[in-house]
Amino acid sequence: MSVTPFERRVFSGMRPTGKLHLGHYHGVLKNWIKLQHESECFFCIVDCHALTTHYENPHDIQQYVWDMAIDWLAAGINPGSATIFIQSRVQEHAELHLLLSMITPLSWLERVPTYKEQQEKLKDKDLTTYGFLGYPLLMAADILVYRAGSVPVGADQVPHVEICREIARRFNHLYGRDAGFEEQAEAAIKKMGKKASKAYQQLKKQFQQQGDLEALERASALVEEQQNISISDRERLLGYIEGGGKLILPEPKALLTPESKMPGLDAQKMSKSYNNTIALREEPDVVAQKIRTMQTDPARVRRTDPGDPDNCPVWQLHEIYSDDKTKEWVQEGCRSAGIGCIDCKRPVIDAVNAELEPIRKRAKDYEDNPDVVRGILSEGCEAAKDEARQTLETVRAAMGLHYR
Ligand code: TRP
Repeated sequence: MSVTPFERRVFSGMRPTGKLHLGHYHGVLKNWIKLQHESECFFCIVDCHALTTHYENPHDIQQYVWDMAIDWLAAGINPGSATIFIQSRVQEHAELHLLLSMITPLSWLERVPTYKEQQEKLKDKDLTTYGFLGYPLLMAADILVYRAGSVPVGADQVPHVEICREIARRFNHLYGRDAGFEEQAEAAIKKMGKKASKAYQQLKKQFQQQGDLEALERASALVEEQQNISISDRERLLGYIEGGGKLILPEPKALLTPESKMPGLDAQKMSKSYNNTIALREEPDVVAQKIRTMQTDPARVRRTDPGDPDNCPVWQLHEIYSDDKTKEWVQEGCRSAGIGCIDCKRPVIDAVNAELEPIRKRAKDYEDNPDVVRGILSEGCEAAKDEARQTLETVRAAMGLHYR
């Protein structure tokens, strides 16, 4: 049946690889903060994914996990609205990963674009491991174990959500039917009586061969109308219209996160690997110092040279942080050499610090009370586990592993 039990449920994960910065805040976290008010959200610190590339120095990862939890909380992820937890503490992720590995063709994993790309990019690491090849499968397990409907991710992660859909589809195809499903469905059709049977067959064909959604609707209505069939026959007949049996693992949809326009200090995208970031917990004077020395329009060498905001990363910060009046002042002042770069940077420094002030303060509170953070994560892990366990029960049963 095409019921996706948790269509509105959201799942996303982040690898713990260091303190978060303004790029994460404006790109990912603000989006999550919005989503947590609209849907049931699960946000996972995926430490096992971090291990796939950092297995040689795993001890850093633990510190990064705490840092990440504090950054999320300080930024405004609310444990009352969203479940936040650690991947390795909910062992069902690992179990589902194992079970799904039985049905995942190697070629699906090998053709994921990031597989070869990352191996090329991270040449100093030996990524010819089983775990690294299985990265997208572990991600699929993360999502499917909660039967989530939406997965907010950046464009680079969309192929991973796609492979997750393929794995879910394959799973449902292999295990979604009870033995003898087809025979039982055919027998149920007969029970509807001659006229209804014929109409059902025709509508089913129309839907399966032409994708006619109206036929699907009419066939479902026809089944619902039947008085003389059992509930399980009704379910069978509904599932049979679409060809499949039960839907055990629903296919999730990627929810594309708009790309962050946050420039780094050197005009490249803000990213830890470029070493051009402003951290969420950066001290005010460090923020000021970093922005003061930030790159500007390279053609504006002297104070008296007019500049072009279009070639200046500081202008991109104004676009994020400044009101129209300030932006006009920048455009006019820069192009006429009426203001200098330091003048132009001042309102941005103030705005960034004003934005970070409450985040810094909350982060400090959590740093001073690590037990509170541990408690929140423990509760999140428990809540996540309760959900994950139910999926695994169904999955184990479907795969013939129910020894009771
Ligand atoms: N691979 C994701 C990233 O690097 C992190 C991740 C792991 C994830 N599991 C996930 C994202 C499940 C969304 C859903 O950004």
